[in-house]
Amino acid sequence: MTERVFTPATGRFAPTWLYDPVAALLRERLWRGLLAMHIAPRPGDDIVDVGCGTGSLALLLHRVEPEARIVGVDPDPGVLAIGRRKAARAAGIAARQTSGPDARAGAGTGPRWQAGMGDEVDEILGAEAVDTAVSSLVLHQCPVEMKRAVLASMHKVLRPGGKLVIADYGLQRTRRMRLAFRVVQLADGTEDTQPNADGILPRLISDAGFTGVREAEVISTLTGSLSVYVARRA
Ligand SMILES: C[S@@+](CC[C@H](N)C(=O)[O-])C[C@H]1O[C@@H](n2cnc3c(N)ncnc32)[C@H](O)[C@@H]1O
Repeated sequence: MTERVFTPATGRFAPTWLYDPVAALLRERLWRGLLAMHIAPRPGDDIVDVGCGTGSLALLLHRVEPEARIVGVDPDPGVLAIGRRKAARAAGIAARQTSGPDARAGAGTGPRWQAGMGDEVDEILGAEAVDTAVSSLVLHQCPVEMKRAVLASMHKVLRPGGKLVIADYGLQRTRRMRLAFRVVQLADGTEDTQPNADGILPRLISDAGFTGVREAEVISTLTGSLSVYVARRA
């Protein structure tokens, strides 16, 4: 992979190890649970998590459906290392909790982790390689051209009829949410984040060729409102 510029998980100032503890304070169980519900992984599904960070979503999807094949892609080796450690811990716990013939099957399996930028997932995995492409809290950190390129790559990597599910800061509808979102803008800058707050994502998703784009959830948090968008590749 050629070296490319990206905003790290905790933004410009904070260390990566703070990411999971801070996320836990921001209604993470609620919005990730809703996100998993919309992804609805099935046995045998191929799923890519673009900008997987420390792997929380990929691991949750594996817990929901251990027979789904999940790959997390992120350009930052630091977060991928955390994801791998969390996966190893989760596999150990699963093995201890499972008795009988399933015990060995539960241990050692889990998401695959892959270094890469979001605009090259179709090159990394191949065109039409997955049934579901997901991404959470990534696009608000990307310049508009990169948001477009990531969505275009997610369109290419999906099989026809495949599902796109995106969770991110979307249109900030109230004064309170716009004010709260300033925390994110402090960490990640305004240039990349403001288009999200102005509600650009549904249009960008449509522009990338997806159909049936809808905002399925809006969740208020201490750092602004998160939206879950779902769409299909025709
Ligand atoms: C705020 S974190 C979110 C991590 C994870 N998806 C989650 O829900 O916790 C954003 C992640 O996106 C990654 N990222 C930033 N720009 C990216 C890009 N252009 N392509 C892929 N990943 C990117 C960062 O490395 C970081 O891990």
